[in-house]
Amino acid sequence: MTQFDLVLVGYGNVARRFVSLLREQQAALRRDHRLVVRVVATATRHHGCVDNGRQVSAASTLAFLRDVVTRRAAAARDGRLVVVETTTLDIARGEPATSHVRAALAGGAHVITANKGPVAFAYRSLMRAAARSNRWFLFEGAVMDGIPVFNLARETLPLVAITGFRGVVNSTTNFILTAMEQGQPFDAALREMQARGIAEADASLDVDGWDAAAKTAALANVLLGARMTPHDVSRRGIGASDGAAAIAARAAGHRLKLVVRGQREGTRVVAQVGLQQLPADDILSQLDGQQNALILTTDLLDEIAVVQRGSGLTHTAYGLLSDLVSLATHGPATRQSPRSAPPRRSPPRQPRRT
Ligand SMILES: NC(=O)c1ccc[n+]([C@@H]2O[C@H](COP(=O)([O-])OP(=O)(O)OC[C@H]3O[C@@H](n4cnc5c(N)ncnc54)[C@H](OP(=O)(O)O)[C@@H]3O)[C@@H](O)[C@H]2O)c1
Repeated sequence: MTQFDLVLVGYGNVARRFVSLLREQQAALRRDHRLVVRVVATATRHHGCVDNGRQVSAASTLAFLRDVVTRRAAAARDGRLVVVETTTLDIARGEPATSHVRAALAGGAHVITANKGPVAFAYRSLMRAAARSNRWFLFEGAVMDGIPVFNLARETLPLVAITGFRGVVNSTTNFILTAMEQGQPFDAALREMQARGIAEADASLDVDGWDAAAKTAALANVLLGARMTPHDVSRRGIGASDGAAAIAARAAGHRLKLVVRGQREGTRVVAQVGLQQLPADDILSQLDGQQNALILTTDLLDEIAVVQRGSGLTHTAYGLLSDLVSLATHGPATRQSPRSAPPRRSPPRQPRRT
């Protein structure tokens, strides 16, 4: 039996659902994965830090985390200490989340996160830090919640070069666009997403396209070997004034969607987030409400589409849970390496549309 000690950095909507999901899946984790999990410490920005059930005062969550990891050197040495990073996305620099991840890895902990900041801003250097410490840095929940995207590429596509992607990856804006097509007001749809805990704490991150740009940078860094941040992604969001265009597109049998794209062009990767009118037979046109989809373009398998029909906190919490099971499955001391930048095969086969 493996026992993981978890340090939760951030204890908001996602972390709380993750903890309740752990409780619900306790028996299955023990039976199917020989895994026992307990939360040993929790850090929040305004609601205090707790270690071993005791309230602790700390100068910052980063200082607290460093102390907690140092105090648990034995668990870290055994590969049983896991830091779960679920603080809010910081679109300026991806901090302090990136520093949290770096400090945890340096202290010998594995890191799992649903925060796209670290992978969008510092993927390469964090992977190097993970390799140096012989620990895992996993982030399945960062894009499309628990639906396999990074797992899919890492575990199931050996030798396949991914040459590009496009998709709808922000639930809030897809929900608002769907509502506006039906004549509903922008503000009411946004409030609904906030009430369901789906919109970011700062909802302008969703509607201005920053969340989608962060996911695009994360996807480009991991899948295409890019070295970009969300600020390198050409970006456009949505507003109340897009309602008329959404209604007109629908009336013409099309859909207006906030589409993300990433593409290898020679040795460069270009990435963008923008509104597009799509034909009815496009997979992305089938997405209503909170639904998301991602289409990967590959050299050996043409296009691979992953569609997320439902979403919510359970899906995101499952992303974290699946990362935890990956840690248990792969063992405590496994190396991982990023996908290499541009494919060596040349020329790549022309993708066929399905
Ligand atoms: N909600 C979703 O459906 C969803 C889906 C996929 C990914 N995510 C990602 O998951 C992460 C968590 O989302 P959430 O909905 O759980 O957010 P949330 O409810 O706002 O909770 C965020 C938590 O992080 C703490 N925190 C925020 N900024 C911090 C900082 N600078 N330093 C230390 N602690 C900080 C907060 O502490 P205080 O409350 O004390 O301020 C709170 O405990 C975000 O990165 C989000 O992008 C969310």
